[in-house]
Amino acid sequence: MKLIKMSVLLVTVLLFSCSEKFGVQKVSSPNEAVQVEFEINIEGVPTYKVVYKDNDVIKTSSLGFDLKDAPPLSEGFEILNVTKQNFNETWEMPWGEQLEVENNYNELKVELQETKELQRKLNIVFKVYNDGIGFRYEFPEQQNLTDVIITDENTQFNLTGNHKVWWIPGDWDIYEHLYNTTKFTEIDALSKANHSNLAQTYIPENAVNTPVTMKTDEGLYLSFHEAALVDYSGMTLKIDKEKLAMQSELVGSERTGYKVKRTVPFNTPWRTIQIAEKPGDLIESKLIVNLNEPNKLGDISWFKPTKYTGIWWEMHLGKSTWDYGMTQDMGTWINDGKAHGRHGATTENTKAFIDFSAKNNIGAVLVEGWNTGWEHWIGFEDREGVFDFVTPYPDYDIEEVVRYGKEKGVEIIMHHETSAATETYTKQQDAAFGLMKDLGMHTVKTGYVGKILPKGEYHHGQYMVNHYNNTVIKAAKYQVAVNAHEPIKATGLRRTYPNTISREGLRGQEFNAWSSDGGNPPEHLPIIAFTRMLAGPIDYTPGIFDIKFDQYKKDNQVNTTIAQQLALYVVIYSPVQMAADLIENYEGNPALQFIRDVGVDWQQTKVLNGEIGDFVTIARKEKNTENWFVGGITDENAREMEISFDFLSPNTTYEAIIYEDAENAHWNDNPTAINIRNIEITNQSNLKLKLAPGGGFAISLKPKK
Ligand code: NOJ
Ligand code: CA
Repeated sequence: MKLIKMSVLLVTVLLFSCSEKFGVQKVSSPNEAVQVEFEINIEGVPTYKVVYKDNDVIKTSSLGFDLKDAPPLSEGFEILNVTKQNFNETWEMPWGEQLEVENNYNELKVELQETKELQRKLNIVFKVYNDGIGFRYEFPEQQNLTDVIITDENTQFNLTGNHKVWWIPGDWDIYEHLYNTTKFTEIDALSKANHSNLAQTYIPENAVNTPVTMKTDEGLYLSFHEAALVDYSGMTLKIDKEKLAMQSELVGSERTGYKVKRTVPFNTPWRTIQIAEKPGDLIESKLIVNLNEPNKLGDISWFKPTKYTGIWWEMHLGKSTWDYGMTQDMGTWINDGKAHGRHGATTENTKAFIDFSAKNNIGAVLVEGWNTGWEHWIGFEDREGVFDFVTPYPDYDIEEVVRYGKEKGVEIIMHHETSAATETYTKQQDAAFGLMKDLGMHTVKTGYVGKILPKGEYHHGQYMVNHYNNTVIKAAKYQVAVNAHEPIKATGLRRTYPNTISREGLRGQEFNAWSSDGGNPPEHLPIIAFTRMLAGPIDYTPGIFDIKFDQYKKDNQVNTTIAQQLALYVVIYSPVQMAADLIENYEGNPALQFIRDVGVDWQQTKVLNGEIGDFVTIARKEKNTENWFVGGITDENAREMEISFDFLSPNTTYEAIIYEDAENAHWNDNPTAINIRNIEITNQSNLKLKLAPGGGFAISLKPKK
């Protein structure tokens, strides 16, 4: 096991005397650029404001809760006690964008008590970093508050202007929306409701989801999110156009009628604001993981970051199916061995993927549609009891494919589509993960398509937050890592449970295969890099080479060039990175060399340039080698870029392979035109690159021997 390097922990605790109790409490970041000011106002309402380099970033905003069967916890408070401390450590990621993470902040903890009647207590803790802040509520043990039912959390974020905002609606049931770029006062989430391509959606208010990223008129970048979402409801942010303010709007439940139920003592998740002068600094920030507790699992070397292929895209294209047999009489599938012959997850097909992966330095194969239940998928109200997570279809010999994979050094990735029938899945988890353990399978992709069962629950409410978290904790007991689709948002829990490897939680590549609205436009990923990706790893499933796939779907296509598909292996971070296309589309294509070579686990990450929604270039150094990889992507606009390689090691000549858009490449008119060239590069080199509309480039750099 690796040694966790802990630098000296400096803790300075200052207790304040009574006379200072009601004054403004200030705490600054270690470099003093960011400052939080906390104050109890005249009505006893807790308030805070945030200042960056002497300018307000968040104007005075109030904090509090509405409770069921109890008066609101929102006013009549006084400060009982204030403590401050400085914290500084360096910890190691078992896998990630970088090996070492500095966690350095100043903390302010304010202990509050109501002056009248119930004298209930509430603590608020601020952690102020050089790259932003996190704050949370702590409900300490006390007499007059034991069980808490939260009907609303009223955390305000009062903005200083009508910022430019990159947002998706505050959907309680799905994050798979296209991002909108508007002024704050033009946010209209309700107009996005009832989107025809979503398996489930519920947008009750004009609210946005997090991470939501903004640019101020002064050119400062802000991103709002949450960290350590545990036993609580996901937070959306309700928009108040008149006040230029946002307020927390927790995801609710029609089953229970409340937002959150907890027993005291407990802490809420951290509410976070990342602050940056350059948009790329948002990507490099480690604020979200830093606000989570350290690794509780210890050694997880049984999980290895890997590239993977899969029996997957072929179903999305309609080349094959997840199900094996016919549906009969609305939902009763008779397993009489009568296959329709189009089933994708066969032993034979899996072996072909294993052979291809073994040949191309790809460590795993995902197999979807291997188990019984797919006949009933989607559209059936009564989905409980349908999927079976241990019983393969007759044409899939799971022991044999696992054995064959092992022989070739390729792991099989398990797939559990729950169809959002949570009780069935919870009941079967021990058996399902037990089977994986027996077979030596260490990764599962889970899925939650459809409306949540039990009825009245939503994907992002407290019930599901607990379901997703409990699944990860249970999986860890069986040495299983989880890549969830239709997940709860990432909030940095991968630090605490590093078997939380990746997730969807965005409009993924699959939309390009079948959506009726034209798929993901070229600006999608240049926005995602500065919004969704700030939350954590993304299973986007890049690497489609047959961009137009007319053989299968005339009306759909990927809206990027092939060079951009390569760039995504570097730009979009995930410790599991799919080569998503059909294997026949890779065979013989020289661009495959980049997928063969590219790393999946990183020592270091540097954002070289970027503007939200326009372009971004990221360089990553592979862990345990001296190899670097660079990826750059642009939106629908062609661009020229000059890249300086000053981040490379000095006195080293690198053999670089450059995969760039050919002269006349274009995401729609000529997406597969790629130019591949070999050159030598040192840390003195500068390179001019041309990116086509919807294009990009990928570079591999290996020290010359
Ligand atoms: C939706 C997931 O995002 C996709 O990757 C998967 O193939 C289907 N559900 C089926 O589980
Ligand atoms: Ca999905």
